[in-house]
Amino acid sequence: MLFDTHAHMDDDRFDPDRDEMIKRCFEEGVSLILNAGSNMATSVKSIGLADKYDGIYASVGVHPHDASTMDEASIEVLANLAAHKKVKAIGEIGLDYYYDYSPRDIQKKRFIQQIDLARQLKLPIIVHDRDSHQDVMDIFKNTGVKSVGGVLHSFSGSVEMARECLKLGLYLSISGPVTFSNAKKTVEVVREVPLDMLLIETDSPYLTPVPNRGKRNYPAYVRFVAEKVAEIKGITFEEVAQKTMENGKRLFSIE
Ligand code: NI
Repeated sequence: MLFDTHAHMDDDRFDPDRDEMIKRCFEEGVSLILNAGSNMATSVKSIGLADKYDGIYASVGVHPHDASTMDEASIEVLANLAAHKKVKAIGEIGLDYYYDYSPRDIQKKRFIQQIDLARQLKLPIIVHDRDSHQDVMDIFKNTGVKSVGGVLHSFSGSVEMARECLKLGLYLSISGPVTFSNAKKTVEVVREVPLDMLLIETDSPYLTPVPNRGKRNYPAYVRFVAEKVAEIKGITFEEVAQKTMENGKRLFSIE
């Protein structure tokens, strides 16, 4: 059974058939999904999905794209949402210097505030990092992220960065792009990182793996990520499924 540790089933693209697609995931080998919030509205929707389905858990947090929508009251709102028993992480939070939808100083401020919130609430963080590796690593070190714990979702850094993250006790999550023909760097990362520090995810509806690239992604496609990880590491699919399930449950404190 598979654990898709990062999906957005609340996304508008699932409005026509959300319940049907979720049901299909559970029929097709996925037993757990962590639905990640990315702003206040999607954090609330994530909790709604977790309430509706046993196999869905939620995270709450504000993505760097939406960092400029936060104000001083936002942290308290997130803290209240996080009190729900199926909220298992703060995220997704981080930096995105590819799109720069929010000014970088605001992105950094809100990222740091949400790491502090996670520490207070004793929840791990789910980190989004796009073209912002250096600043993310600096913030990890300055905020003492080692005592918070968490995962770099859809990890896109180098082997060197992966090693730095492992030293900080952080997990690395692998997504659809590992199946792309130009995925050399991520393939190297998978080869290097110990299996007990790897998670797998889809980031549905984004980042659809080969052979379905171009179509809408959904959590059942996490099996293509698991197959690729098994191939790179030279182990069985079942071992990848079992280990990444254990890792996800450990990180997110799921029984
Ligand atoms: Ni995401």
